[in-house]
Amino acid sequence: MTPSGTTSGAAPQRAGRDSGAQPAWELLLPAAAAPARRRGRALQEALREAVRTGRLASGTRLPSSRALAADLRVSRGLVTEAYEQLTAEGYLRSDRGSGTWVSDAVRTARAAAAPGPRAPEGSEPCDSGATVDFRPGVPDLSLFPRAAWAAAQRAVLAELPHQALGYPDPRGLPVLRSALAAMLTRRRGVVVDPDRLVVCSGVAQAATLLGFVLRERGHGRVGVEDPGSPEHARLFASTGLETVWLPLDEEGLSPEPLTQAGVRAVVVTPAHQFPSGIAWSAERRGMLLDWARSVDGYVLEDDYDGDFRYDRAPVGALQGLDPERVVYTGSVSKSLAPGLRLGWMVVPESLTDEVVERKRTMDLGHPALDQAALAFMVTGGGYDRQLRRCQRVYRERRDALLAALEKYFPGTSVTGIAAGLHVIARVPARYGPTERFLAEAARVGVSLRALEEYGTARPADGAVRLVIGYAHLTPTAIAAGLGRTAEALG
Ligand SMILES: Cc1ncc(COP(=O)(O)O)c(C=O)c1O
Repeated sequence: MTPSGTTSGAAPQRAGRDSGAQPAWELLLPAAAAPARRRGRALQEALREAVRTGRLASGTRLPSSRALAADLRVSRGLVTEAYEQLTAEGYLRSDRGSGTWVSDAVRTARAAAAPGPRAPEGSEPCDSGATVDFRPGVPDLSLFPRAAWAAAQRAVLAELPHQALGYPDPRGLPVLRSALAAMLTRRRGVVVDPDRLVVCSGVAQAATLLGFVLRERGHGRVGVEDPGSPEHARLFASTGLETVWLPLDEEGLSPEPLTQAGVRAVVVTPAHQFPSGIAWSAERRGMLLDWARSVDGYVLEDDYDGDFRYDRAPVGALQGLDPERVVYTGSVSKSLAPGLRLGWMVVPESLTDEVVERKRTMDLGHPALDQAALAFMVTGGGYDRQLRRCQRVYRERRDALLAALEKYFPGTSVTGIAAGLHVIARVPARYGPTERFLAEAARVGVSLRALEEYGTARPADGAVRLVIGYAHLTPTAIAAGLGRTAEALG
């Protein structure tokens, strides 16, 4: 195909409506020119983005795989694979033998999202239009396996007995607790008795449930990592607990501040510390557990993105070392979607009854159909497939981010392990100071955050330290955002 759109038969038409302006098929050309190893994925991403941003409107008929492959000069198999993948995800629909169209479901989703109530800060689509928001902790919501989730929901609706639609066990459906117990043992080395696993609304509710229980037991304060997630402090505050910052070094929490803080409970992110990105050393993990035993205390292990490690197998959960001192929690927020509000906590025996009773009085249990659908995905292998898929995509985006930092801000170093959905970048002082860096980025529609926003430390070397989320941004958006920032800084 030529960029002018005069093609050898791939001219798109609309199904059942006026054909209107032709979609710009040339937007697929850069993907077709990607290195062979990445070409298939690049083609899928470009098509997905074109549908998401509306450049390919719902109802648009796509060219036949043969015609598009010829125009793009790629193998027909790549195009077929892209069509199949996007059909499975719900972006496209195909009628065997008669063609492939951009799905109406996409239009519906977009229209539904359009004018509604104001979304919470930063929850807008991040790589559309002129804005590039490098907000940390956000997965790519377009990777949500719509087809697999729909199939799981259909299957459970057909199979679930009527009784399963009554108030659920406040711990969660037995079928999901068993499935999660097996998965967490296999993937994260968690020691799980399904009777002590509580299904809840994400890590957030796990922290809240634990906070209320600790408060009732007489705790007044909880230790949080510094730097750390601002959400932890807010969640515990909602239960009446104060939080105490505990400074980290490159190995984890250091012993002295912990013993001096006078707390008997802490929340930590040892597999991939948020936000610094370090993995706690084995020594500090042991030290933390020794401390918990010595004060008859508890550790809340927030395993928010522990599944994603790009250079080696993830470090196993701390909980496996002492299931009676560690409350383990995780969720599907990074692997499926935060909007599902589905998570789990594995509770020490000494806390189980109180946590389960709190969960019962808080909401009488978690929605049963979603639980059953997740159980279906976990036991059927769909959840593992999704994790593998996210892992591939996020690794590629991390690589793209590192390459863009090197290109636009030479001398930048990235700290922390190769894992998760964000990195910490230390940009040389000549690009600073931090306030100017962030302001210039904002001026050109790029939203970046300084590490200082997440803790109390104020390093004096003049370098700009950034917490950069990349998982929700395409390589193109990542490069564009950093390129524009570099240009604005002059
Ligand atoms: C470190 C950390 N823990 C927990 C959460 C909340 O996770 P969930 O959606 O599972 O409640 C977040 C949210 O971004 C987070 O950044």
